Amino acid sequence: MPSWETLKAECLACRKCPLCETRHNVVFGDGNPDSGVLFIGEGPGEQEDLQGIPFVGRAGKLLDDMLSIIGLDRTGYYIANIVKCRPPGNRDPLNTEQEACIGYLREQVRLMKPKIIVCLGRIAAMKLIKDNFKITKEHGQWFEKSGIQMTALYHPAALLRDPNKKPETFVDLKSLQAKIKELCG
Ligand code: URA
Ligand code: SF4
Repeated sequence: MPSWETLKAECLACRKCPLCETRHNVVFGDGNPDSGVLFIGEGPGEQEDLQGIPFVGRAGKLLDDMLSIIGLDRTGYYIANIVKCRPPGNRDPLNTEQEACIGYLREQVRLMKPKIIVCLGRIAAMKLIKDNFKITKEHGQWFEKSGIQMTALYHPAALLRDPNKKPETFVDLKSLQAKIKELCG
């Protein structure tokens, strides 16, 4: 059973899938692993790949702004992705890439013991909540798996493309805020 630092070092050197050929940096995660709250996106974009930090591009900026409204910054949650290296051209990560990489996330979860996992977008929700997850219908709903409360929000990149989805996301964020208060104090 690796420690957090051992796991991170192993991940930063990983060559288990072809995404290692085109990445600039492995994006392991950012924030507070002791917070009890874990956000999961699908995979790094261009800025994330260049900086080695998740959600630092335009979508990340929107996410930071929205979370600040419910009083959250990166001291209050941890954030990572299903795949730790950028899929070229921001395409969806392939199933084979997700399968190669998911072990790192599973170890992160095992070490963090989060009370709450928030999937950002359909790809993460399908991988972590259920494979037939319908983001338009099921965003904001709560699911329990292995004692962890799980939910999904629209991906912030989807909110940039379609700002009409923002009001629903604010309702979901209020529900998240209440759940954090209930479970994490
Ligand atoms: N989109 C994601 O899913 N993850 C990131 O880290 C950045 C953008
Ligand atoms: Fe390894 Fe994951 Fe990067 Fe593939 S995406 S090389 S499995 S860290």
